[in-house]
Amino acid sequence: MGDEQFLSQDSAVLTILKTSEEVNQLKDVDTILDKILYESRKFANADAGSIFLVEKDRLIFSYVQNDTLFKKETANAALYQNFGIPINEQSIVGYVAKTRQSLVIDDAYELDPILPFSFNKSFDEKSGFRTTSMLTIPLIAQESRLVGVMQLINAKNDMGKVGPFSSEAKIYIPLFCNNASVAIERGIMNRELILRMMQMAELRDPTETGAHVQRVGAYCAEIYGTWASRRGHSAKEIKRARDNLRLAAMMHDVGKVGISDSILKKPAKLTDEEFDAMKWHTVYGARLFKNETSELDRMSREIALCHHEKWQGRGYPGVVTPDVWSDDAKLGEPINGEDIPLAARICAVADVYDALASPRSYKDPFPDEKCLGILESDAGTHFDPEIVEVFVEIFDVIKAIRDKYVEATKK
Ligand code: C2E
Ligand code: SIN
Ligand code: SIN
Ligand code: FE
Ligand code: FE
Repeated sequence: MGDEQFLSQDSAVLTILKTSEEVNQLKDVDTILDKILYESRKFANADAGSIFLVEKDRLIFSYVQNDTLFKKETANAALYQNFGIPINEQSIVGYVAKTRQSLVIDDAYELDPILPFSFNKSFDEKSGFRTTSMLTIPLIAQESRLVGVMQLINAKNDMGKVGPFSSEAKIYIPLFCNNASVAIERGIMNRELILRMMQMAELRDPTETGAHVQRVGAYCAEIYGTWASRRGHSAKEIKRARDNLRLAAMMHDVGKVGISDSILKKPAKLTDEEFDAMKWHTVYGARLFKNETSELDRMSREIALCHHEKWQGRGYPGVVTPDVWSDDAKLGEPINGEDIPLAARICAVADVYDALASPRSYKDPFPDEKCLGILESDAGTHFDPEIVEVFVEIFDVIKAIRDKYVEATKK
């Protein structure tokens, strides 16, 4: 083997090790999928790609990137498409899931008719995209558990011309995917743990699915991403903060664990006294996040404590004295404006929108116009007006999220 070839193999391995290490620092499954797909595409110089995750006997479309069709770093409704493909030999991703072997295709339109699977042209037909080469890889974690399938599309050469995937890509990306699959499983587990915890805290009802917790997390992540790229924050910083924000926002009402069922599930308006008791869910929540050095704990604490503060004051709990940890803590003067942490200002808009658009024990869901009307008329009093502006700007993405995470119908 010549020195040159040795060097390039060496740097490929180093790239994969370094990237795997970065992936291992992420916590939320969406951030992990984003990173894995981005780095794999970069390595293969692929124009597009998507990831499907296994749920029961289906592959659920879970992540997509496409440099030709989508602008980078802007909120994108395509991420929240809700469809699944059966695990069988009829589709390319189904075939790869079933056989657990990587599959290389040089031109999707020139498949040998003898092959069991066929290429589904409907996406190209709808979008005007032309799929050519494909590298489709099973995502397999420890104990040979199939986590999903990653598909990279349209490898480009140095001149930007689409052609077959390089032999390097075919060797190294599947290796990287073995590590990546373990990270994906961990990300899924983190979400599931939080959902289960929220089920105990807030819902106390086995027929509820926690869909609204998923929605608030996703709304916050998208609002923040757009807000921060408007302000020119770096892509790296945005990804790091989004990773924490998504999970922290899911836990905003975890303090409802300390509120009695008679208040939490009251099918009518709360009395002043009951509402005063309800206000403590902010403090109870904040008390769960003690770790001073963890970014996720800091953000979770800020959101739990401050998501009911208002831009012009008059929210709650206000300044808690002597501090939130104290047994004889008292709620105090409301805080306002930028004294309310950004993450909590974002969560306030996401949480109220979701409460307005969803049924509650005390109200029916409101139609879009009514929800947006309330958010816009309360911008500048209840809400940070810039956050409401971002929310309205990305409302198509908000609606795609709402449609993806739907409450399972109750028996
Ligand atoms: P939640 O149901 O998740 O509502 C979150 C926030 O959305 C509320 O915070 C409020 O700012 C907003 N919101 C909810 N419904 C409406 C509405 O019909 N109109 C408008 N304009 N805004 C709405 P808030 O008021 O601090 O309430 C915090 C939590 O207290 C609520 O969380 C809910 O769990 C409970 N709660 C509030 N009011 C009532 C009530 O009348 N009956 C019952 N059973 N629970 C209530
Ligand atoms: C930011 O300010 O851009 C990140 C949000 C936070 O850390 O609270
Ligand atoms: C509330 O915060 O209790 C009402 C929401 C609003 O209209 O500001
Ligand atoms: Fe709350
Ligand atoms: Fe809430």
